[in-house]
Amino acid sequence: MASEQLSVLITGAGGQLAQCIKHVMADFDYAFYFKDRKALDITDSDSINRVLDETNSDIVINTAAYTQVDLAETETEQAFAINHLGVANLAKLCAEKGIKLIHISTDYVFDGKSDQPYLETDPTAPQTAYGRSKLAGELAIQQAALPAFWLIRTAWLYSIYGKNFYKTILNLAQTRDELGVVNDQTGAPTQALDLARFILENLSKLDRENSGIYHFVNSGQATWYDFACAIIDQNALKTAVVPVSSNQYPTAATRPRYSVLDNSKIQKTFNYSIRHWREALQG
Ligand SMILES: NC(=O)c1ccc[n+]([C@@H]2O[C@H](COP(=O)([O-])OP(=O)(O)OC[C@H]3O[C@@H](n4cnc5c(N)ncnc54)[C@H](OP(=O)(O)O)[C@@H]3O)[C@@H](O)[C@H]2O)c1
Repeated sequence: MASEQLSVLITGAGGQLAQCIKHVMADFDYAFYFKDRKALDITDSDSINRVLDETNSDIVINTAAYTQVDLAETETEQAFAINHLGVANLAKLCAEKGIKLIHISTDYVFDGKSDQPYLETDPTAPQTAYGRSKLAGELAIQQAALPAFWLIRTAWLYSIYGKNFYKTILNLAQTRDELGVVNDQTGAPTQALDLARFILENLSKLDRENSGIYHFVNSGQATWYDFACAIIDQNALKTAVVPVSSNQYPTAATRPRYSVLDNSKIQKTFNYSIRHWREALQG
């Protein structure tokens, strides 16, 4: 007898968010297929086609992305090849095969000049090559005539997996007595395991009616300095954290000054409470 279990394909399986999905998947009754870049390159239509057919996918969760924000300023073509053309490929093939798609995007699609949390409907104006490439991917998703899609913008992801600010601070704190951390950029630190759980808990609700853009970040806001202090406290470390200006840490890509995302739409639509970042940090 044919199984009722939905087949869920996760791209970018070597990355942070995909590993978080793997971490929580045991609680969910789906047939999961994790494919890293070697097994499924989203810039290669043949590779996508083959994997979609082999896995008989009902839903794709696309976590694959070019995520090197500073390098993207010089490797712009590569960033667009993945974040725009790769995503467009994937969306087109999913649309043709009637497969639903969950795609992850970023706060970097906004200009960072606001002083209140960004809504899904606020105008986009990316200030970096990475942000422009991710916005191009968003447009491709929206134009693809998918049977259903969620385009989930998130920000400041951290977890025990991959490279992220949380792990960087913990590593630096092992060898330094003092750390300078920027105090003039504000965002919402987001536990990637919380996003992974949200996606899997709500997966069966994905349909045409609730298709669209959603913002998922942990609630509240912080500067990188606030976040670093909380990480140091949580781990009972002795390292002193000193607030500094971003002018003292020039980067190739200018970071948004303010990029808190308003998460009320996703909470209301799915009757789902997203916890405060300080609570999420406690595990
Ligand atoms: N991390 C954050 O703070 C943050 C914030 C906002 C939004 N996001 C978005 O959230 C999503 C997940 O981020 P993450 O933190 O999990 O990123 P990540 O750890 O960098 O993972 C991305 C994965 O995609 C893979 N990949 C790159 N090009 C690919 C291709 N052509 N085909 C298939 N896979 C490819 C990468 O493989 P390689 O390592 O081999 O390149 C990597 O394993 C991304 O869409 C990102 O833009 C992240």
